[in-house]
Amino acid sequence: MRVNYKKELEEAARNMILVHKPHTLIRMILRSIVRKVKVEHAGILLYEKSRDSYIVTITRGKVGTKIPPGLVRLDARSPIIRFFTQKECGSLLDDGALILDDLNAALKNMESLAGREDHEKLLLATKFQMKSFDTVVAVPSFYHDDLLGVLTMGEKVNKKPFKREEIDFFVALANDVAMALRNAFLFEGLQMEIERNKKLFLETTKALSAAIDAKDHYTRGHTMRVTDYSLAIAKTMHDESDEKPAAKFYEDLYVASLLHDIGKIGIPESILNKNGSLTDEERKKINEHAIIGAMILEPIRDLDGVIMGVKYHHEHYDGKGYPEGLSGDRIPFIAAIISVADSYDAMISDRPYRRAMTREQAILELERCSGSQFNPQIVKAAVSLYRKGQL
Ligand SMILES: [Fe+2]
Repeated sequence: MRVNYKKELEEAARNMILVHKPHTLIRMILRSIVRKVKVEHAGILLYEKSRDSYIVTITRGKVGTKIPPGLVRLDARSPIIRFFTQKECGSLLDDGALILDDLNAALKNMESLAGREDHEKLLLATKFQMKSFDTVVAVPSFYHDDLLGVLTMGEKVNKKPFKREEIDFFVALANDVAMALRNAFLFEGLQMEIERNKKLFLETTKALSAAIDAKDHYTRGHTMRVTDYSLAIAKTMHDESDEKPAAKFYEDLYVASLLHDIGKIGIPESILNKNGSLTDEERKKINEHAIIGAMILEPIRDLDGVIMGVKYHHEHYDGKGYPEGLSGDRIPFIAAIISVADSYDAMISDRPYRRAMTREQAILELERCSGSQFNPQIVKAAVSLYRKGQL
C-alpha cells in the first residue's frame, strides 16, 4: 500500500504540539519510519550537553539489526558529526540527507573532490562510520547552526534504494525532531524559571512570617508551629478519607498558614502587645487583621486559596466569628484548619494575661468548642493526632 507521506507528516506535527517530551515524540517518529517506509532499523544520535557528545539514544527496528541504545557515543570530532557540522562536502547534502550510495559515488568520482585530500579522508571515514552502524541514510537535525541530533536509517526491508519522497519524508521528520528538541529545551528552561520563582516566593513568605512573629512578640515561633499543625491535620484528614486534595491545596495551606496573621503588620504594636485586657475599640482594631491580611495579598496573582485562608481564619463554625460571620461549610476549608491550629497553639503558649494550658487541656477545650467555634471533623483529626503523640 502506498504511504501518504503528507498525512504522516501532519500526524507528526500534531504529535509535536501534544507531546512535550521529545524522547516520546522521537520514539513515535522512529516507529513511523520503520513501519511506513519499512526500513530494517532507524535510530537517533542525540546531542548530550553534559557529555558534549552524540549518543545513540533511541532505536527502533528488528532486534539484531538495530543498535542498542547507549552503545554508541560520538564526540564532535567524529567523521559523521564533522561531515554535518563543517559542511565542507556540502554538495552531498543538497537533499538534506547523507545517502551512502551518493557518498560511494563521490568517492569513485575523484573529480568531484577536486583534489581535496582532506575531503576524501573525511568522506572515507564517514563511510566507514556509517557502515559500522549499518546506516545507509543519515539526516541531520539542525536548529539554526546547532546540530541537535542525527537520524540514522538502515536498509529497506526489500533492499531497494530509497525513493526521493522517502528521503524528503526523513528530512521533514528530522526538522520536526529539531523543533521538538528546541521546544523542550525552552520548556525546561521555563519550568526551571517557574521553580526558581516559586522557591523565592516561599522563602519570602517564610521571611515575612518571621517578621509577623517578631512584631507580636508574645507569639514567637507561633506562625511556624501553626503551619506544622495545619499541614499535619490536613494530612490526617486526607489519609482517613477517599477524597484527594486539589493539586495546589497543600501549597495554599502552607502559604496561608505562614501568612495568616500578616494583617497584624497594620495593627499598632501598643495594642498587639498590651499588658492587660483590651477595650472594645482595641479588640475591634485587632480583629481587622483578617481583612487587612486579605487586602495585602489581593494584588498577588494565583493566591485566591491563600487569601480565603487568611481572611476567614477567625470565623466560627456556628457563624459567631469574624469578619463575615460565615458558618459551617461556607467557611473555606483552609481557613477552618488554620483556625483550629491557631487556637491550639495560642492555648499551649504563655500569654501576658495567663499561663499556657497543657496540651491535654487544650485538646479538651477544642473538643468542648467542637461544633460551636470549630469544625467537628477538623477537631476530630487534631484529637487523633494528639492521641498519637503528634500534636
Ligand atoms: Fe489571626
